[in-house]
Amino acid sequence: MVTYLDAEAAPLKNTGQIRLHGPESFAGMRKASNLTARCLDTLVDMVQPGVTTNEIDRFVFEFGADNGAIPATLNYRGYTKSSCTSINHVVCHGIPNDKPLRDGDIVNIDVTYILDGWHGDSSRMYPVGRVKRAAERLMEVTHECLMRGIAAVRPGARTGAIGAAIQTYAEAERCSVVRDFCGHGLGRLFHDAPNILHYGSPSEGVEMQPGMMFTIEPMINLGRPHVKVLSDGWTAVTRDRSLTAQYEHTVGVTADGCEVFTLSPAGLDRPGLQAA
Ligand code: MF3
Ligand code: CO
Ligand code: CO
Repeated sequence: MVTYLDAEAAPLKNTGQIRLHGPESFAGMRKASNLTARCLDTLVDMVQPGVTTNEIDRFVFEFGADNGAIPATLNYRGYTKSSCTSINHVVCHGIPNDKPLRDGDIVNIDVTYILDGWHGDSSRMYPVGRVKRAAERLMEVTHECLMRGIAAVRPGARTGAIGAAIQTYAEAERCSVVRDFCGHGLGRLFHDAPNILHYGSPSEGVEMQPGMMFTIEPMINLGRPHVKVLSDGWTAVTRDRSLTAQYEHTVGVTADGCEVFTLSPAGLDRPGLQAA
């Protein structure tokens, strides 16, 4: 049995119960998420052939520091970077390093800032220089998956409706949905209940209610859905080394749908792609 509880009254640990947040929490999430979005906006011009992911990571740290925010990934379960940078066949949790980005790469940059205790979690794909049409198409399909998932968010529907919308579209486009990672509740916690699966059916999952906050972050592959984690304990790659993409937004459920907290104020939600 799933239970819901008043976020303000609840203990600050993931107990599996679902927090319902009030207006002050929405205001806090708006601020944290907007900072994350502005960081991802600034990275659009920085992502070029020759730039290293460590340079990007340093920028993420500094931009946060300049704005009173700390990256949530820093020292999270032994992770030591301010961002995740996942290139080409890396599905997620790529660790920034000193290798320069190369013309034709596609890279996901995932940033979560903690501002006044609230978590704003978002990621986008960035093409490096000129990329192949197949890579561009995968990014377009994946962004559309995210937006269709978001469109399925409304009180009364189950979280499975999000996964169903994503899986249906991805597979119609002859792509596959990664099963090993999911979206998550968040707020004052980084990873909280419920899990948001990016596949499944509308009758599955928990019923959405106004005040819930969570991420939707589909990982979509051009090849098969299977992934493996490298010996560094973090880097997840496609087993068949096929190209993979991901976009992530943080949303809050409202009376009639949801508010997307991490939307780009500059309209740069899909860097390098035609405006949707
Ligand atoms: N930001 C990622 C997410 O979308 C989580 C990264 S955890 C890390 O949930 F430790 F790998 F950074
Ligand atoms: Co997330
Ligand atoms: Co993220």
